[in-house]
Amino acid sequence: MQIDKINSERIKNLQKDKVFMKLGGGGDRLKAQNIKGKLTVWQRIEYLFDPDTFVETGSFIELRNDSFGLDKSKTPGDGVVTGFGKINGQLVYAAAQDFTVLGGSLGEMHGKKIAAIIDMAIQNGAPLVMLNDSVGARIQEGISALSGYGEVFFRNTKASGVIPQISIIMGPCAGGAVYSPGLTDFIIMVKNTSNMFITGPEIIKTVTGEKVTKDELGGPDVHMETSGVATFVGEDDESAIDWVKRLLSYLPSNNLEPPPVYNLTDTTVVEDIPQENLVPSKTTKAYDMFNVIYSIVDKHSFLELQSEFAKNILIGFARIDGHSIGLVANNPKELAGCLDINASDKAARFVRFCDAFNIPLLTLVDVPGFLPGTDQEYAGIIRHGSKLLYAFSEATVPKLTVILRKAYGGAYICMCSKHLGADMVVAWPGSEIAVMGPKGAVSIVFKNEIKSAKNREQFAKECEKQYMKNVTNPKYAASMGYIDDVIEPGETRQMIIRHLAALVNKNVEMPKRKHGNIPL
Ligand code: HXC
Repeated sequence: MQIDKINSERIKNLQKDKVFMKLGGGGDRLKAQNIKGKLTVWQRIEYLFDPDTFVETGSFIELRNDSFGLDKSKTPGDGVVTGFGKINGQLVYAAAQDFTVLGGSLGEMHGKKIAAIIDMAIQNGAPLVMLNDSVGARIQEGISALSGYGEVFFRNTKASGVIPQISIIMGPCAGGAVYSPGLTDFIIMVKNTSNMFITGPEIIKTVTGEKVTKDELGGPDVHMETSGVATFVGEDDESAIDWVKRLLSYLPSNNLEPPPVYNLTDTTVVEDIPQENLVPSKTTKAYDMFNVIYSIVDKHSFLELQSEFAKNILIGFARIDGHSIGLVANNPKELAGCLDINASDKAARFVRFCDAFNIPLLTLVDVPGFLPGTDQEYAGIIRHGSKLLYAFSEATVPKLTVILRKAYGGAYICMCSKHLGADMVVAWPGSEIAVMGPKGAVSIVFKNEIKSAKNREQFAKECEKQYMKNVTNPKYAASMGYIDDVIEPGETRQMIIRHLAALVNKNVEMPKRKHGNIPL
């Protein structure tokens, strides 16, 4: 058959256009990305999605504001690649900023493209991944650029609790631009090439006189260790994307679906540590909570989040018998496992994420109480501690709690106790559950008797023994029905598996309301 020359020419032109469009801001700028240790936008897309699954949307969209010399910088796509594809077989939507086009700056159409892809992700119930690499609002576009941001923030908020949202910061993320990632569920940064701040070093110097580098202000270390903004840090672009893939493997596509189930039913055996030795009998001795976690969850399944922030509490996803769970555990190695402001914030947000996405909660408790001190009181521990109480109380997913050792005072209640609606609370035999520890309790209750005792020290010790036997003993709590059972450490995993299986159809109706008012 004779080839239609006109059509053939059209197709060739289109193919040329498409090749050109993929070059973004051009060869030199693309090379510069790689020289800086960054991937180009298309290299990122290729690494993120399963081969040949990505479908681009809005590739011809251009800026429509020609002012201030922008007419010379018009580039198809307007500096952001949007679309959808499969990640490990799961449908995922994405927006990836292209730093080679006007620095990845966000103008009106760039913002509209991102907003459109978030709308599609919500409508189709699929996770959203945002790859950020941008200088911020496109100055030349004025209010149109701000409107672009506003549209994105609005949709990030609308999507919250409906689809999982993950941001990767793969370059600068400055000014109001930080609030899109800030509204998403997880933020992954990249070592050496990413930073996030509301006002940059220059403005800070002008306004306050303070001198600070970009990294000191908002580099990955700062956001992992101090601010708690970052969930993970990747060594490079590839490893940051690997975190996304790992994270997604625990999550459902949306709030109406259950999380995926894997055929990983292997028990973790903690080599050389008998179950009896996982928690020392001496209540003041620190131990490694990770070993307790490994003894309960499927092998290699624990994915710790925010590992460098508020280390006194551990949060993360894991699998038990192949099923995703959200794990919250006090960490006796840091501040003796006390709850403080940052720990409360960290755990509360995680609990709310799990509840929103049907992921059962497992809480491992060894908590001496809330951290005392003026620092904490002045900075609002009442407000922050309330968040954790609120988050556990409102969660309607299956809630399982294991008390390993100490569970004192308000912190006992806070760590997903029966009183906050836990479906199962079990304790290991050495647990101590009471208003406070024996020393403090005896010094208050027997203050006068100790004063008049012949041998004060011995008398106090005797009182403490009685207190431990009659008040803090987990069997006492069990006799009141506040815990369901006292179990051997070695029985824990099976107990959890059985309870989770029984709770698979759990259905709790909360009173009708628009939304609650969590203490923020
Ligand atoms: C448009 C911009 C731009 C901007 C930079 N460019 N900033 N274009 N709007 N805001 C252009 C540059 O002219 C350059 O174009 C390209 O982007 C790359 O920028 P460089 O400066 O050459 O890159 P680099 O040396 O890597 O430095 C990156 C940077 C620096 C550190 C991020 O650009 C910077 O400090 N920019 C300002 C960052 C900032 O303060 N942003 C906040 C804006 S306010 P060519 O053609 O040479 O490639 C904001 C408010 C949002 O975002 C509010 C939302 C609610």
